Amino acid sequence: MKFFLTTNDQRPTTNAPAGAVGHNLDKIKTGELKEKTERALAGGGPQRQGMQKEKGKLLARERLDLLLDPGTFQEFGLLVKTDAAEFGLKDKDMPGDGVITGVGKVASKRVAVYAQDFTVVGGTLGLAHAMKIARLMDLAVESRIPVIGLADSGGARIQEGVVSLGGYAEIFYRNVMASGLVPQISAILGPCAGGAVYSPGLTDFIFMVEGISHMFITGPEVIKKATGEITDFDSLGGAHIHGERSGVCHFVAASEEDCFRTIRELLDYLPSHAGQAPDRREPQDDPRRPSQKLEELAAGDPRKPFDARIIIREIADQGKFLEVARSFAPNIIVGFGRLDGHTAGFVANNSAHLAGSLDISASQKGARFVRFCDAFNIPIVTFVDVPGYWPGVSEEHGGIILHGSKLLFAYCESSAPKVTVIVRKAYGGAYDVMGSKHIRADVNFAWPNAEIAVMGPEGAAQILYAKDIAKAADPEVYLAGQIAAYRSHFANPWIAAQKGYVDEVIEPQRTREKIIGALDYLIQGNPRRRYIERKHTNVPL
Ligand code: HXC
Repeated sequence: MKFFLTTNDQRPTTNAPAGAVGHNLDKIKTGELKEKTERALAGGGPQRQGMQKEKGKLLARERLDLLLDPGTFQEFGLLVKTDAAEFGLKDKDMPGDGVITGVGKVASKRVAVYAQDFTVVGGTLGLAHAMKIARLMDLAVESRIPVIGLADSGGARIQEGVVSLGGYAEIFYRNVMASGLVPQISAILGPCAGGAVYSPGLTDFIFMVEGISHMFITGPEVIKKATGEITDFDSLGGAHIHGERSGVCHFVAASEEDCFRTIRELLDYLPSHAGQAPDRREPQDDPRRPSQKLEELAAGDPRKPFDARIIIREIADQGKFLEVARSFAPNIIVGFGRLDGHTAGFVANNSAHLAGSLDISASQKGARFVRFCDAFNIPIVTFVDVPGYWPGVSEEHGGIILHGSKLLFAYCESSAPKVTVIVRKAYGGAYDVMGSKHIRADVNFAWPNAEIAVMGPEGAAQILYAKDIAKAADPEVYLAGQIAAYRSHFANPWIAAQKGYVDEVIEPQRTREKIIGALDYLIQGNPRRRYIERKHTNVPL
């Protein structure tokens, strides 16, 4: 593959002039090269750059400056221009065809990165623009490095017609070919309409920034004409809508700076490609650190909800946890942390929301996360506190059978190391789904207070003894007696431990030590887990 390198700049960029990331104009001696480079670096020019600022958005090169380690950007295709001339394009100056592409480092990790420049014809995608991104993605796949896309675009460039649709499809195809092979991250930093949303939709993680990011397939005007619904950009496709309702967005950032900081944090947990494990960081925390808080949680009222993040933070190294899709389906919590320096993907039912039950959204969220972790060899640590699947007509009609199966499928399919801890309830089919021994979790622990049964004692006693309750002299007393009998017989971890479905019933305060002990063996020792080129794609579920 040939690349059209514009510079081989090695300078440290600690005092880089704004808008010139990766280029040092002072060092370029040739008149023509200097002139062309200057022109290309100016993007859409001062007026449009001023308009970009007025919208509260950074310029594309400022974004790259903030995202990348200083002095690491190698730009490709700075001088690319489109051949398209119709509908007034002949007279337009479109530096770089509205997108900056290149390679650089993020937190010392090599990445391929592109940033659409809204100041150049709205960052719209024509053929030259598309092929710059496509070539970059080819390089990323060949070099096995993550791809980061900074999107700020009005979508398909209308003047280029079907050619721009073809350009989009070239990118979509590459997104799918790269899926599960190298991590793909998208940050939406402006409008993202029509074709512009599908490429991010095919990637592993989507970031949005409050106030400036919007994603939709058809905008408010088209919707009004088609359905009569009145809406606006924010309520249709703003960061909060996609972070809370649709689940399209995995990270909502308060600012662009916050967005880039979180991308760096995320990348630090990930391997560069599926053929390797994530790098281990020097551990900064005692692997045997006990937790009194977990002991207290286990001793608490089993009906009292609590925030499952407490458990994850007690167990992760230094309490650090990067939560994914925080506001979407909060009945299941997923995200990354470290255990004795190794990256771990945490999954936890959260009783603070819908009693921690699994519904359609939680199943999709959990399944996508488990599949991502599996694709990139990240151990999956599951904390189970689940009363079952969420009942309801809307759930059934919405396809809980289909969507709930996704989580089951994901756990069954995964061959990454899996450690499961039942911290409270594990009822019904949800017991099977949440990383049970039967679907091949490697090591299964339970706290002594765990309740592992077909259903909760109250429901079970009412079904089993319905006729006897009706006949009893005092139905309430009779029912209470049967509930107590059921609880003492079934709602505990002992039968599961006796059958070997639970490997060990552990003291809650020693949970961190136990998980790390298990992972130490699982990560180092299992020859079944040779790293292969790609396990599977990360299809959007
Ligand atoms: C060509 C476009 C454009 C487009 C914007 N521009 N969108 N040019 N094709 N799709 C140009 C504008 O003419 C303007 O040029 C410059 O970009 C900035 O746009 P403004 O409208 O001035 O900016 P703003 O007010 O911030 O509005 C931004 C916007 C709006 C919300 C993105 O421009 C808009 O709604 N554009 C259309 C979005 C859309 O429907 N895209 C879908 C296309 S179809 P000048 O020269 O004046 O600076 C599609 C299907 C692909 O994508 C399917 C593939 C599977």
